[in-house]
Amino acid sequence: MEYGGQGLYEPLDLQIAKCKLMTAGAIGVPEPKGRLRVATKFVNVAKRYYAEQGRQVDIIKLYGSMELAPLVGLADKIIDVVDTGNTLRANGLEPQEMIADISSRLVVNKASMKMQHARIQALIDTLRTAVESRHRG
Ligand code: PRP
Repeated sequence: MEYGGQGLYEPLDLQIAKCKLMTAGAIGVPEPKGRLRVATKFVNVAKRYYAEQGRQVDIIKLYGSMELAPLVGLADKIIDVVDTGNTLRANGLEPQEMIADISSRLVVNKASMKMQHARIQALIDTLRTAVESRHRG
């Protein structure tokens, strides 16, 4: 999603590590009137998300602990993955806009898929059966 998946097929949603990619900001703090400053490590997703809204923002690339950015006044919002929401709460932040549902996907190199089709297809089928049986309970 962040890097475009060029050269890769995505044949199967493994339906694990489910979470959400969201914007978050300090609890009860309204958005600034001018340009929004957004800290994230998902720079490309963030650019796309705000471009679709026609919103001008400054994206600040951070590599970790981005929930600290609003606390120290570096950014107005963050974009990060949210599961339980505990990390946000522990830092006085709240989840705001939902950007995407996230889960782990099986990816296959397109060239490998051509060269070793039978072997890889068998692996995909086995994993698909496992995912489906897990979901049937
Ligand atoms: C992610 C994310 C938050 C946390 C959210 O970090 O960056 O820190 O999980 O989960 P929660 O809503 O249940 O608190 P992760 O552990 O994936 O590692 P990272 O810091 O390398 O992103």
